[in-house]
Amino acid sequence: MLRNAFLWASTNPWLARQLPRRGFARRAVRRFMPGETVEAGLIAADDLGRRGVPAVLTMLGEEVHDEASADAVAAHYRDAEARVARAGLDVELSVKPTHLGLSVSRERVRDAILDLAGGARSRGRKVWIDMEGSAWTDATLELARAVRERTEAVGVCVQANLKRTERDLEALLGDGLSIRLVKGAYLEPPSIAYERKSDVDAAYLRLARTMLDFATTAGTATAASARYAFGTHDPVVIDALRQAGLGRVARCEIQMLYGIRPAAQRELAQAGVPLRVLISYGDSWFPWYMRRLAERPANVLFLLRSLVAR
Ligand code: FDA
Repeated sequence: MLRNAFLWASTNPWLARQLPRRGFARRAVRRFMPGETVEAGLIAADDLGRRGVPAVLTMLGEEVHDEASADAVAAHYRDAEARVARAGLDVELSVKPTHLGLSVSRERVRDAILDLAGGARSRGRKVWIDMEGSAWTDATLELARAVRERTEAVGVCVQANLKRTERDLEALLGDGLSIRLVKGAYLEPPSIAYERKSDVDAAYLRLARTMLDFATTAGTATAASARYAFGTHDPVVIDALRQAGLGRVARCEIQMLYGIRPAAQRELAQAGVPLRVLISYGDSWFPWYMRRLAERPANVLFLLRSLVAR
């Protein structure tokens, strides 16, 4: 119930204007992001790198519907890619297709991602494509395949809460795409998505095992350079995957979000389980922050504490 309320709030334009103006909300959000600029993201990535943990960087933002703004986002990422390369950091970028203007021009988004993939490839890294709400699933998978036809330096996210993902995953594995599996952070209709958390968790484990098996048997020749990322903080899932071989199977890794279960992140890194941490930065954090609250309503306590502490 509370989860749905936060997911509804994430799409509310009035709240999106009001909350980010409040100091207490800005203080609370800092738990999940190091700052609003790419510099803040790079400093956090450098810090993680010194502790042996590579990172993924993403600028917050979505649903850009005009060409000029979409071009500005693409230019921002080109600059971020150049900075990462100059700094020699083991950092990958992750982008949201609607932030790059998917509703404006699919070709431009494809070209912007190809550009970033070119930079990533020359560093032996990948660019990741986030998955947004189900209205964008087909277009996002098409985009990922179009980029994959030209370079292997690309990965796409799939969501375990969507019933279609079992079918999508089989096809994407065959296409040689790198894949990040997540539970799914968007409010979806029950006709296409699992409603109960236990069903989402079970679907996640089934899909994760499919990925792990594929990687263990070395997959297909097309998938020789693909990577498989398990984007989750769920201790039950992580334990099950470790028992099933994660940590020993090449090209498989856990990905977690900055600031979430930091002790578990340290433990995984110390145990030698490949881990990458996704760092978000930017000023358009409202919908993203609402989705973080939806994942764990206990986070609201932090928001309230920040309100009291002002
Ligand atoms: P679950 O929600 O069951 O949480 C397991 C445990 O993790 C909780 O009990 C708690 O301890 C901790 N936890 C989880 N979320 C927390 C939070 N917000 N605050 C504090 N503790 C928390 N989604 C999407 O739709 N498209 C995408 O492209 C991505 N990309 C992405 C990349 C990466 C690297 C990650 C880790 C996640 C995403 N997600 C995403 C988000 C994903 O769909 C999902 O909403 C969250 O990861 C939460 O689900 P968990 O698997 O962590 O499990």
